[in-house]
Amino acid sequence: MIVNKVSLATVAVKPEQYPEDDKPEIAFTGKSNVGKSSLINTMINRKALARTSRSPGKTRTINFYNIEDTLYFVDLPGYGYAKVSHSESQKWGSMIEKYLLKRPQLKAIVMLLDIRHEPGANDKTMLEWLKYYDYPLIIAATKADKIKRSQLQKQVSVIRKSINSPKSQIIPFSSEDFMGRDTLWEAIEQLIR
Ligand code: GTP
Ligand code: MG
Repeated sequence: MIVNKVSLATVAVKPEQYPEDDKPEIAFTGKSNVGKSSLINTMINRKALARTSRSPGKTRTINFYNIEDTLYFVDLPGYGYAKVSHSESQKWGSMIEKYLLKRPQLKAIVMLLDIRHEPGANDKTMLEWLKYYDYPLIIAATKADKIKRSQLQKQVSVIRKSINSPKSQIIPFSSEDFMGRDTLWEAIEQLIR
């Protein structure tokens, strides 16, 4: 997709605040700091429309980005950030779960995993949830610029083995050098067609 027109349409903490139209939605999930907001900026050719931070816990609301009046990208708060209080992390958990539970517009989830590491316990819990809700799943293996090109396929295999989701596409991605951007767009466009 050629993206020229994007805007932050809605910031929500509860379902009544979600957009009311029925454009398809693609949601981005993953642990805090894995690069969700950066990936959204990369996908829409913006440096900083989605706010990013070096420290985890930046995105604390559900942010709906209107892409070309055609679809929404949904930036979710990250999970698994130890410094957030228990009650706050529960609040985010229930906010994310409510969104995933009943959102017919949601066409697919892009789950971000750091290409350098095996998925952690929180990632696996999230993957189990997603399997239960049965949404199409794409894995973006982020921060691919941080490893040697010769290691990419090996790391993809490590992730594939540990996620028990044989059908999901795993796309090495980098918000630094745009690796995987076109491939991820193709995968998304197929799912909203
Ligand atoms: P929360 O909103 O806290 O859940 O985090 P997030 O997943 O939205 O992460 P964010 O996009 O804010 O990025 C976190 C940090 O990782 C920032 O310092 C980014 O610059 C960095 N980062 C994100 N993607 C990449 C990438 O592909 N490569 C490199 N080298 N750094 C990245
Ligand atoms: Mg974020």
